[in-house]
Order: sequence, then structure tokens, then C-alpha cells
Amino acid sequence: MFIRVDAPARHAHAQQLLWYAAPLAALLYPLPLMGFHALITSPPASGGYVHTFAAGLLLLLAFLVPVLALVLAMHLSMIENPSPAQRHARRIALLAVAAPPMFVFGGAVFFMLGIAPLLAWVFPALWIALAITIAFSDKAPSTQVVTPHPASLRIAHGVLALLVLLVFLAAHIANHFFGLIGVTAYTTVMKLLRHIYRTPVVEPLLLAGFFSLIISGFYMAWKFTAQSTDRFRTFQMASGIYLMFFLISHIDAVLILARRFLGIDSDWAFATGAPAGLIHDAFNIYLVPYYWFAVFFVLSHLASGARAVMLAHGSQKSHADGVHIFGMALSALAATLILLGMTGLRIYWI
Ligand code: HEM
Repeated sequence: MFIRVDAPARHAHAQQLLWYAAPLAALLYPLPLMGFHALITSPPASGGYVHTFAAGLLLLLAFLVPVLALVLAMHLSMIENPSPAQRHARRIALLAVAAPPMFVFGGAVFFMLGIAPLLAWVFPALWIALAITIAFSDKAPSTQVVTPHPASLRIAHGVLALLVLLVFLAAHIANHFFGLIGVTAYTTVMKLLRHIYRTPVVEPLLLAGFFSLIISGFYMAWKFTAQSTDRFRTFQMASGIYLMFFLISHIDAVLILARRFLGIDSDWAFATGAPAGLIHDAFNIYLVPYYWFAVFFVLSHLASGARAVMLAHGSQKSHADGVHIFGMALSALAATLILLGMTGLRIYWI
């Protein structure tokens, strides 16, 4: 007996499978990095090139997880009048973009609680649980009412982001470029900047600014994911969600893990996981995609903001899109240079 499945039904089925692809990719995120660590800490049996190539491929695979989740979120976000399950799947795909900071945050918290090995179970369990909630979403009645959020919130979010950029972020990111010159150059600039951002007035204001950005950004993303959005808006939301988790994880690492729990300075050695470094340590390797996407997303999130402002002021869509794409390319370059500096590349002026 043959069961005939017609083409539209097959298509609908394939589309449904896509709902689960992002949580599945996030669930698997630690595996290529574990493989990378196993490879680079074992001597090559024969051809060293094959060994290095395989390690490089595994690292690339880990980088592809947030990219795949982003592409899926873009696809799911373009569905008009989404069902509850489709809406839920697009939100979980956006969440999966943030798999690197979620894992690092979990690692730091579990380490402080003395239960670090549990992360290997809790992290996949979280994604399995999220995937199951997608499966059951269409069984619940749709309760989402799409109400636009006030334009003043978008403006306030943008102005606050600009303020944080001017007071701290531009200098903080620029500081990381000094790693390419050397540790002394990085440390000199960091100590100089601390006179500003570590003062009793600026530091609490800065942290309040970041938390306000997180809360307002989350609220807007929640509203936007209820309706269909274009790829650029989805990128803006995905980068924002990544930054949300990155900031929570990063502030926890600097203020709680380093300063309070370990009682060490959050200096170059802390950031680069010395003495093992970022590449040769089983946990530090997770910091490579984590930092790369942080720099990439924070800069390209600003490019998304610039595009929105250009469109609101009557710029041609092609110009605004061009600025966004150019901003993304520059962000990728900046992230790569910073990571190369953190992993040992040095520029010498002769
Ligand atoms: C390669 C990427 C990054 C690295 C390696 C890094 C590293 C660090 C380090 C070492 C500190 C401690 C500084 C000190 O003790 O003076 C710090 C502080 C901080 N970073 Fe980053 N950072 C990165 C990217 C970012 C990004 C993209 C953001 C924002 C989205 C950010 C936000 C912050 C904040 C809010 C603090 C706390 C400042 C304070 O009050 O002391 N960082 N970061």
C-alpha cells in the first residue's frame, strides 16, 4: 500500500521541520568546540596540515551556529499572520543566535556554584525543552494581540545607545584594538579609561544605561516578533538579543566573577584567559565566538540603528540598506582584528 503525500503537504511538513532547526543547532553548539579542543591538544598522528584543517573546520562550524539561527529567524520572521507555533519558533530562533553568550554565562554561573560539569546536561536540556514548547504552541489558543510600541521608546532606545557609545563603548572597543600593538599598550589605555568609567558616578550610570537598553530592546523585540518583519529588522533584533545575553554574561564576568568571586583584576590576562590563552583551554575556546560576535553585533546593531534613522528621514531604501551592509562588513573586520590581537597577532611599526 502506498501513502501519497501531495506537494503542498510535503512543503508544509518541511516548513514545520525548520521550526526545530535553530534549537537543534544551539543544542549542538558546544560539540564542535569540544572537538576543536580535543584536536589541538592531541598531537597529530601524521599530517599536521590535516589536523589543523580539521580543527579550523570545527571552529568554523561553531561560528555557523548563530549564523544558521539568524538565517532561520529571518525566514520565519517573514511569514505573514504567523500561527502561535510559527511566532514561537521565530522567537526561539532569535534566542538561538545568542547560544554563545548563553553558554558562557551558564559556564561562569555554574563554575561559581561549584557545579560546572552540570552545564553539559542543562544546556542541551534547555534547548530540548524550548523545542518541545514549539510543538505544543499551536495547541494553545492564540493570545498575542499586536499593538505597536510607542515611537518615543524607539527614539529613547536610540538616544541612550548613542550616549553609551560616546561615553564608553567607542573607547572600550578602541581599547581592544591596542591589543594588536601589545599588552602594555592595551593596559596603558585601559588604566587611562578607568579614570572615566570606573568613577563612582559614571560606573552606576553606565550599568543603568546598559540595563535600560536591555529592557527596552527586549520589549521592542517581543512586539516586533509578533508580526512579520523584513530581514534587516530581524538582524537588528537578533543582534540586540545577542547583546542582551552578552551584556548580562560580560557584566557578570567582570563585576562578579573577576572582581568579587576570584578577587582578580579584570585586565588583559583575565580577558584573554591567561596563562592558557583563548585557543588552548577547554573553556576559553568558547570565548572566541562569544567575543567575535559581541564586537560584530554591537557595531552592526548600531548600523541597523543608522539604517532605521535614514529611512525615517526619507533616505532611499537602497542607500539605507547599503549603509547597513557596509556597517556589517566593517564590524566583521573590527571583530576579526580584535580577536587576532587577543590570540597573539602583533603589529610592529618599523
Ligand atoms: C572582544 C570583546 C570584548 C572584550 C574582550 C571585553 C573585555 C572587557 C574587560 C576586560 C572589561 C574590564 C575592564 C576593566 O576592568 O577596566 C570589560 C568591561 C566591560 N565591558 Fe567589555 N569587552 C568586550 C566587548 C564589550 C562589548 C561589545 C560591550 C557592550 C556591548 C562591553 C561592555 C562592557 C561593560 C559594560 C563593562 C563594565 C565596565 C565597568 O563598569 O567596569 N564589552 N570588558
